[in-house]
Amino acid sequence: MIKKVSVIGAGTMGNGIAHVFAQNNFEVNLIDVNALQLEKALQTISKNLERQVSKNAITEEQKKQSLANISTYTNIKEGVQDADLVVEAATENTELKLKIFKDIDEAAPASSILSTNTSSISVTKIAAATKRAEKVIGMHFMNPVPVMKLVEIINGFTTEAAVTKTIVDISKQLGKVPCVVNDYPGFIANRILMPMINEAIYSLYEGVAGVEEIDTVMKLGMAHPMGPLQLADFIGLDVCLSILSVLYEGFCNQKYAACPLLIKMVTAGRLGVKTGEGFYTYTSGSKELVVSSLFKKD
Ligand code: CAA
Repeated sequence: MIKKVSVIGAGTMGNGIAHVFAQNNFEVNLIDVNALQLEKALQTISKNLERQVSKNAITEEQKKQSLANISTYTNIKEGVQDADLVVEAATENTELKLKIFKDIDEAAPASSILSTNTSSISVTKIAAATKRAEKVIGMHFMNPVPVMKLVEIINGFTTEAAVTKTIVDISKQLGKVPCVVNDYPGFIANRILMPMINEAIYSLYEGVAGVEEIDTVMKLGMAHPMGPLQLADFIGLDVCLSILSVLYEGFCNQKYAACPLLIKMVTAGRLGVKTGEGFYTYTSGSKELVVSSLFKKD
């Protein structure tokens, strides 16, 4: 029976994951080495819960209870010592994740399930860094976590069937829809999404169409809530490039090679929403979509 959940990493994904567990009455330990990041995460969770209160999706009392369900820690080992389930949502860096999994494997109870929110790193590789590979699984949430229904569940090569079942059940308890997939590069979500984003960037690079036209075709023609270039900005162009590299190296296939324009934008530090500019320019407080001056026509 899972009651206590430790979430590692208080960035965008970590705070969203902590939010949905806390809102569904789990006891949450939110862990980040950076105390300031923890403070910011609590403010974000509170703001997003308030948004739900104002839409009558939850009551003020549920908001209070959700916040009370969250404790914060700056020390990983302390934060996971009584966890039934750990959800790791640290920076997408293989060496860092392997180190974190070694640490949590030593400190968390032997019975606890260790999951990772990785969007592309091999779950089998992460599991091999622990002495309980059969209890390691991928739990890939989508951004924004409180809104997006999917949890892509990734079975590592040696994940036990009982562990998969527990994670499927927990995802349902969070009001999400679980989809179980196997551990190959990019799993399903990013194996399909990233080539689409890369192709959109190629279309811009080759002058087939402008930023607005590419995104409008996909929004109005395919009913995507965001066009692929806006979505790339939202995900982070550095993250897109890193996932494409995982696909390229993992399959040894040229079709996943990143567009030179994507590489150039990442090199120039134009990473999308988080740096204020990517294919669009972002001004805090404004929802208006303004194409970046780099791609404005005439
Ligand atoms: N917490 C709680 N509620 C939130 C929220 C948050 N963080 N963000 C938005 N919402 C709610 C809003 O309150 C609003 O609720 P109602 O429908 O009840 O009014 C609803 O979500 C829509 O929000 P907005 O009106 O502010 O904005 P929008 O209509 O533009 O929707 C969006 C925003 C949901 C992000 C939408 O644009 C969208 O679906 N975009 C695509 C998202 C997507 O594809 N995510 C996956 C990215 S890939 C990934 O995460 C994985 C990876 O590995 C790369």
